Amino acid sequence: MLEKTTTQRVIPIESPSFVREEHLREAGNPVFLFPRRCPLAMEIGCGTGDFIVQLARRRPDLNFLAVDIYNQGCLKTCRKVDRQQLDNIRVLRMEARYLMTRYLGPASLEALYLNCPDPWPKKRHHPRRLVNAGFLEMVRYFLAAGGEFFFCTDFSDYAQQVAALFPFPGLDNCLPAPCVSRLEGYPFSKYMRNFSESGQPLYFMRYRKASRFPGSELAPPPFSASNSPLLGGGAA
Ligand SMILES: C[S@@+](CC[C@H](N)C(=O)[O-])C[C@H]1O[C@@H](n2cnc3c(N)ncnc32)[C@H](O)[C@@H]1O
Repeated sequence: MLEKTTTQRVIPIESPSFVREEHLREAGNPVFLFPRRCPLAMEIGCGTGDFIVQLARRRPDLNFLAVDIYNQGCLKTCRKVDRQQLDNIRVLRMEARYLMTRYLGPASLEALYLNCPDPWPKKRHHPRRLVNAGFLEMVRYFLAAGGEFFFCTDFSDYAQQVAALFPFPGLDNCLPAPCVSRLEGYPFSKYMRNFSESGQPLYFMRYRKASRFPGSELAPPPFSASNSPLLGGGAA
């Protein structure tokens, strides 16, 4: 049966890799969703799963949360995960900041990946962009010491906007420049592949959470639906 929403037809996902919120609530913590106890990593906006599936195959020593609000994307990601029999990916259809603040503990992520987030190209929509100072506070809070935040965009002005947020206390640049056009060994997502094949440049950033950062135990500002454009708030 199809559940109909105002924006999309929601196809039920029957996959052992897919985790509904009730299940996550019962588990209490995402670490219990996996057959093996390994450090946890997360991709925000996994889309159709191309990136996370490649990475999870290379890194059986990590467990991955693939998070997207898009039902069809989650469905396609689950199909890839199941086809490749990867037991170190769990797919969740949730708003990423909601998931993090509701279900993750501080310093619980070894890595956080954000590839080609929605660019919101119109200037008046820039406040809808996911990455801002409040988001970086969340990144800093949820990354373990030494954990890494990877960001890639095809929009030069989004790259500039993010680069302008640094230096950001507690997050150290791992690269020789604020952003680079290639990251050796970094898998391509579907969008990255499409942009790259059409000759458009990509901008990569990589930051590491400092091992000692005073105040990193302080929780970031609470995330609420009222300040999320995706969930009804934000700029018009
Ligand atoms: C432009 S697509 C990129 C998909 C994929 N990362 C790639 O590079 O191929 C952005 C994706 O992020 C998802 N997304 C946007 N904001 C999100 C949020 N706050 N939480 C979870 N997913 C989000 C969208 O549904 C969409 O699938």
